[in-house]
Amino acid sequence: MRVYLSEDYKSMSRRAANILSAQVITKPDSVLGLATGGTPVGAYQQLVEWYQKGDLSFAETRSVNLDEYYGLSPRHEQSYRYFMQVNLFDHIDIKYENTHVLDGLAKSPVAECARYNQLIRSLGGIDLQLLGMGHNGHIAFNEPGDGFELETHLVTLTESTIEANTRFFGRREDVPRQALSMGIKNIMQARRILIMVSGEAKADIVCRAFRGPISTQVPASILQLHPDVTLVGDREALHKLVEAGEPVCG
Ligand code: F6R
Repeated sequence: MRVYLSEDYKSMSRRAANILSAQVITKPDSVLGLATGGTPVGAYQQLVEWYQKGDLSFAETRSVNLDEYYGLSPRHEQSYRYFMQVNLFDHIDIKYENTHVLDGLAKSPVAECARYNQLIRSLGGIDLQLLGMGHNGHIAFNEPGDGFELETHLVTLTESTIEANTRFFGRREDVPRQALSMGIKNIMQARRILIMVSGEAKADIVCRAFRGPISTQVPASILQLHPDVTLVGDREALHKLVEAGEPVCG
């Protein structure tokens, strides 16, 4: 694993955007696995800025998002499809038909998950998967205790994730209780992983994920077994990992 420590959120976002843009420049038709949540917003803003300057094009790029709330329409302001449009897709030249997000209104979640697994395979797999990490170590909506062998599946959100996501919905009772999510197996099959972490509240779980035992209780710990992981974080999120002896690149 390569670890890049940045002093603050802005420089961390720039670092992550650098890695994403290098992927797109060296392989314009890359399949990017994309994440939502608060952490990658700055990196997406940076990519938009570079696109607007003419330094970057996504005209051939394909994308698959990690997850979507089950029961939310793509037009709902808290849906992950809406998030991706507002934070990235509407501002760059990626073709809408090349962007893929799970359908939160699918009548059959089982069929929708099977379709998504097949879609990822038909795209040739994911070249670079961007991830954030939950306070309980979740990646995508793979919660503690979920099997590492799972592909895309319907998830019942834990209380801790509902709590963390209440900030986006305003009221706890408005947070959906279920989501469709890529599984750990899909994530581990990506050729490269870029994981972003920010803020003191992540410092303990980052340390457990990358220095502790590999366990389904900390889903992100499985990344220790992936051959090409880059961790990008700010000092607040990474200081405990570094104090525990993890070498950093910069
Ligand atoms: C989002 C996702 C989640 C988030 C995680 C961290 O697509 O899959 O696993 O990455 O909950 O969220 P933030 O970045 O808001 O701390």
